[in-house]
Amino acid sequence: MRKAHKVLAPRDERETQSAGAKGQLLLVNAGEIATMAGLERPRRGEQMRGVGLIQNGAIYCRNGRILEVGDSATIGVKYSSTANIIDAKGKLVVPGFVDAHTHLVFAGSRENELEMKLRGATYQEIAAAGGGIVSTLMKTRAASLNDLIRESLPRLKGMLNEGTTTAEAKSGYGLNVDDELKMLSAVETLSERQPVRLVPTFLGAHAIPPEFASKADAYVDMLINDALPAVARRAPARFCDVWVEHGYFTVEQARRLLTKAKDLGLMPKIHADELSSCGGAELAAEIGATSADHLIHVSDAGLQALANSDCVAVLLPAASMSSRLPYADARKIISAGVPVALGTDLNPGCWVESMQFVISLAVHQLRMTPAEALTAATINAAHSAGIAREVGSLEAGKSADFLLLDTDRLGHLGYKFGKNMAEVVVKEGNVVVDRRPR
Ligand code: NIG
Ligand code: FE
Repeated sequence: MRKAHKVLAPRDERETQSAGAKGQLLLVNAGEIATMAGLERPRRGEQMRGVGLIQNGAIYCRNGRILEVGDSATIGVKYSSTANIIDAKGKLVVPGFVDAHTHLVFAGSRENELEMKLRGATYQEIAAAGGGIVSTLMKTRAASLNDLIRESLPRLKGMLNEGTTTAEAKSGYGLNVDDELKMLSAVETLSERQPVRLVPTFLGAHAIPPEFASKADAYVDMLINDALPAVARRAPARFCDVWVEHGYFTVEQARRLLTKAKDLGLMPKIHADELSSCGGAELAAEIGATSADHLIHVSDAGLQALANSDCVAVLLPAASMSSRLPYADARKIISAGVPVALGTDLNPGCWVESMQFVISLAVHQLRMTPAEALTAATINAAHSAGIAREVGSLEAGKSADFLLLDTDRLGHLGYKFGKNMAEVVVKEGNVVVDRRPR
């Protein structure tokens, strides 16, 4: 088995055993549980409104996995001798959020760009002035592996506190073999050190580094001949991502790179049609990408191509907010029959850790209903990260990752915003955050 799978493999026997009698957990008296159970494929169209609701629900877990989900009267009695019992007191339970798109690992910050944005500077103008990806690249190259871990850990803690239990995490600020491997190694270590499970993505094609200025093809050759084989051999990456955009990578370059990535066992993802319409969605469908992300300027042909594929559209409304870009047309994308997922796009230009905040933007700015936003933030996001067999819904056999929210109904998701509703966060059957009033 490739090392790639280590990050997501079930915790080993020793660890689950050491939980001993504490390896069991029973939650009872949930007013509602949105299980998201039922379908094996990513949800599209009307399916995004189905959340598999159970009234007065209960969940029983053992050794990090869900054994049963059902009504409190039956399950509560059957497992009443469990040592660890959470009384949900009529509140809402949902799967742990899956953040479908993050640039979690980076050094430094870029708050200096905010005022440029407020004065009307575009993403490209900020990049041309030495900001953007290349400015983070310099700091990330200068940072040691330990520096990157130390700087990223508090962000992960913030994500967990707000209910994220799984997240995709990209490299892309190293842009040479050693520094990309360093970033992926940071992702691997971070995943092991705290509860949020990370799915690593190699994003060597995030930008053209200064030493390859005006030699984009030579940089792509280096990625294909040196970086990808090194990543496939030595890093745990599951995906290979490319930013297809004017001034970044062309469809042709992306096709070459992703074809090689697939040969090496890495699944394709594409940053598509974020700043302009340039064929990213069409390529995502053609090459069998697991996700096409951003899609602000997706063409009608691109949308049709996605609808006819298994690709998930990952929408990132916080990136629109922070870069003052238009919002993706989620209604049109959902109507076209493309499954939608949500992510934070956490990066130094869009510093947001909270999936709850992203859900509120999805509801208010993308006009997604609370049920659609929850689908996008859980099971569809799990599909976009290739881990829907493990997480994203509350069903027997899956990882026991769920949230007790401080509200009694699903309709409050996104409707109430700016306040952290995650009272209890359970990851692999362990209570990892408990903010209930004592
Ligand atoms: O997803 N679009 C490209 N990449 C990031 C931005 C990264 C950065 O600005 O540092 C994004 O928005
Ligand atoms: Fe991104």
